[in-house]
Amino acid sequence: MTASTASTGTPAHDCTGNCERLRKDPASEPLPGLERLIDLDSGRLSRRVYWDQRVYEQELEKIFARSWLFLAHESQIPKAGDYVTTYMAEDNVIVVRQKDGSIKAFLNTCPHRGNKLNFTDAGNARGFICNYHGWSFGIDGALRGMAGQELFEASGMDRAEHGLHPVAQVASYKGLVFGNMDPDAPSLEEFLGDFRYYLDVMLDMDGEGTEFIGGCVKSEIRCNWKVPVENFIGDIYHALWTHDSAARAMLGGPVAEVYKDPDSYHVNVNGHGWEFNLDVVGNAATLGDKEIRKYLYGIQPKVAQRLGEFRSKMIGSISSVSVFPNLSFLPGQNTFRVWHPRGPGKIELHTWTIVNKSAPQDIKDRWLKGTMMTFSPSGVFEMDDGENFEFSTRTNAGFVTRQQDLYMGLGRGTRLDGSGLPGNVYRNQVNEANHRAFYQRWLDLMQARAWHEVPERDKPALPDSAFTYGQQAKEAA
Ligand code: FES
Ligand code: FE
Repeated sequence: MTASTASTGTPAHDCTGNCERLRKDPASEPLPGLERLIDLDSGRLSRRVYWDQRVYEQELEKIFARSWLFLAHESQIPKAGDYVTTYMAEDNVIVVRQKDGSIKAFLNTCPHRGNKLNFTDAGNARGFICNYHGWSFGIDGALRGMAGQELFEASGMDRAEHGLHPVAQVASYKGLVFGNMDPDAPSLEEFLGDFRYYLDVMLDMDGEGTEFIGGCVKSEIRCNWKVPVENFIGDIYHALWTHDSAARAMLGGPVAEVYKDPDSYHVNVNGHGWEFNLDVVGNAATLGDKEIRKYLYGIQPKVAQRLGEFRSKMIGSISSVSVFPNLSFLPGQNTFRVWHPRGPGKIELHTWTIVNKSAPQDIKDRWLKGTMMTFSPSGVFEMDDGENFEFSTRTNAGFVTRQQDLYMGLGRGTRLDGSGLPGNVYRNQVNEANHRAFYQRWLDLMQARAWHEVPERDKPALPDSAFTYGQQAKEAA
């Protein structure tokens, strides 16, 4: 970029559009041969997806910079000026409640010389001041002032152009705040699609909503980010073996033999997946606290009234969930987590405990203790999983090893048509249907130059009004 300053009068801005181009790299061409990494018909997956640095760089651009990513729970930022700092992949962002109640998010970096702006995890602020030269920004991201302002003005700088870089789209679904870096991405509602039908099992049991309790636990695991996403999108298969000893400690016996459960499922929509059976409290039971089970049985009739009998049996059942690309949670165990990528071989895991807002305080406390005992860095199940995640990634350092394919064909031929449930539905939760759907979405995004090139595979069957449960009728009355 060339910029000249006239010797007298107002400095000229003669960059001829180069500064616009500097702001954003043009979309890169999709990596050649991506389609050879995945064969969904035979259920084969190349190990390159876990190890190749070029694949990872493309994921940052084509998956994470274009998908809706979880930013915060609304309960973390109830008042104007409340903020949290978090990540959208490797981009650090500030998420802040505005005076009008809306939520905005910005890159957590000063547009002057690039210093990190906010070093805290959460708080309340009237504005943000950079440590380096003291530029100050409002909670709306606008540049408010700087020392020696007149010198900048004399250099032809327009303050309005140098606010914090905003996350292009921010939206909430039932308490969960998501952001999307791509202004051309479809709405959050479209992105979640009919998966909202299942999300409501966790987020909308009684119309009172949910909240995070007890803060965020952070840890690092040396694994590729997709390994734990796969694990949570539908891998009950591992629990019977990996978690056998932990389950015996927590339950006093082995994990239920879900192979034989005739009433269990894999469902997926737009690459999001949920595997579950209908035993109401199977996951919750692993916390080893019968009061939590009693609570779930106690609210089940109310949930049945709101969401129907079928979904009321999912509230704490043996189940696990991943929302594309990197958000996961476990109903009943109530761990809620984001696997932030840190290169192809490492993640930073952020974990919270999510509960119904309306639950008694004693039950909330029990849940917090239960999630810490099971799914924290020292939790009995998390330790089991972490080692598998790390070595499922690490083995691919071997040049010859990484040329070998992996198998994810379990459950081919189990698709249920006409089940009456939304999305793609498969019989038996011991399945890899959700893994294949995740990688289909992954491939679709990795191969597309822009959102309009992403195929719409799962057309919505339910209208938006299907997720309000009589609220409109109530409001009309
Ligand atoms: Fe922030 Fe200079 S880098 S004020
Ligand atoms: Fe596990």
